[in-house]
Amino acid sequence: MNNIIKKLSNKKILTYKEMKEFFIGYLNDLVSDEEMTLCLKLICKNGLSDKEIFDLTDIFINSGDVFPKNSSFIDKHSTGGVGDKTTLIVLPILASLGVRISKMSGRALGYTGGTIDKLESIGVKTNLTKKEFYNLVEKNNMVISSQTDNLCPLDKKVYALRDVTGTTKSVALIATSIMSKKIASGAGKILIDIKVGKGALIENEKQARELARIMIEIGKKYDREVICMLTRMDNPLGDNIGNKIEIMEVIDILKNNKQNNLTRLCIEMSSLMYSLSKNSSYEKGKEMVISSLKTGKAYKTFLNYIKAQGGTLPKNDNDPKYEIKSKRNGYIKSINSMIIGETSMHLGAGRIKKTDKIDYDAGIILSKNIGDKVKKGEVLATLYGKKLDTRTFYNAYKLQILKPKIKDIIIDIIK
Ligand code: URA
Repeated sequence: MNNIIKKLSNKKILTYKEMKEFFIGYLNDLVSDEEMTLCLKLICKNGLSDKEIFDLTDIFINSGDVFPKNSSFIDKHSTGGVGDKTTLIVLPILASLGVRISKMSGRALGYTGGTIDKLESIGVKTNLTKKEFYNLVEKNNMVISSQTDNLCPLDKKVYALRDVTGTTKSVALIATSIMSKKIASGAGKILIDIKVGKGALIENEKQARELARIMIEIGKKYDREVICMLTRMDNPLGDNIGNKIEIMEVIDILKNNKQNNLTRLCIEMSSLMYSLSKNSSYEKGKEMVISSLKTGKAYKTFLNYIKAQGGTLPKNDNDPKYEIKSKRNGYIKSINSMIIGETSMHLGAGRIKKTDKIDYDAGIILSKNIGDKVKKGEVLATLYGKKLDTRTFYNAYKLQILKPKIKDIIIDIIK
């Protein structure tokens, strides 16, 4: 065991056999959390070569069930952000257009939310048997379930440790973690949304491009088509952050009642995924996606999906705890998504520890977003949930006198 630590410290290349012994040893409790933490910290510090990343991905894939490649199975994954509810919008759009899509999603940990918690907040059953899973895809063209225990169990164990040891922000580890799950699940076509910015695991564009490159290379090794979107995560995605509260924004967008950075991202993502799945042009995809939103097809598909998995539509009947009012006049230049995410977590919408219970009604609704004009005393945001000191919440906002130029949420699309 010490050999691998010594080699990593001396920046020597590890062999497949050495990594397999160490990582599978960890899965089987033969390597301790402390030893694995040391290894992960060295990987975060020094990185891994491409060959080591390919080998480690392969070890993760084969740590559990591996489904054969299905060329028509399309999947998406996001590296995680504050207010990210794209799955819940993109899947009904695609399903309404005849793109079959099934997805395994995760729970909230730290300041970013989890799709599964959002669905459970409105009573959607996510712990499905294999039979239920396949019946539901057949019926609605879409299904979302929690991850089975035996899909990349090594990633599950290593990810939980990364989360509590400050070792989440490594290009090599993120690529290995995401691509192993996508490949093991059998997806033939994969869209990855790489979030870049203050509220994301990846803080700069250079790292994001490197992550996109290596994920596309891993895809090639297993004959999978991979598209990476690089998208901004300096500001929260959309206006609602929480669980039930996020579902309310999903409904607004699917009803075609709301245009914001989240709507823009979901339309682009759905158009790309449609064209990838149907081998059509991007323009055709976009036309279909917009029409599904305008005609209410996407919303209807969402309603059928919620009903089929036992959920009910949410109502915002929770009492607001605080209204945060602007202290001055100006335009909103930026909203720090990390502060928003952390506040939402402390209000009760997320978990500080893995065992914490979520308050499904807790969260934040932003009434003003970037680029908006505000007057002193106007409400910037409404907070729901536990009592807390709201002074740091103001630090999330940067105001300026002149109307700021807002950058497009999409930085680049890499194929
Ligand atoms: N999502 C994952 O599944 N793994 C990571 O490492 C980061 C985001």
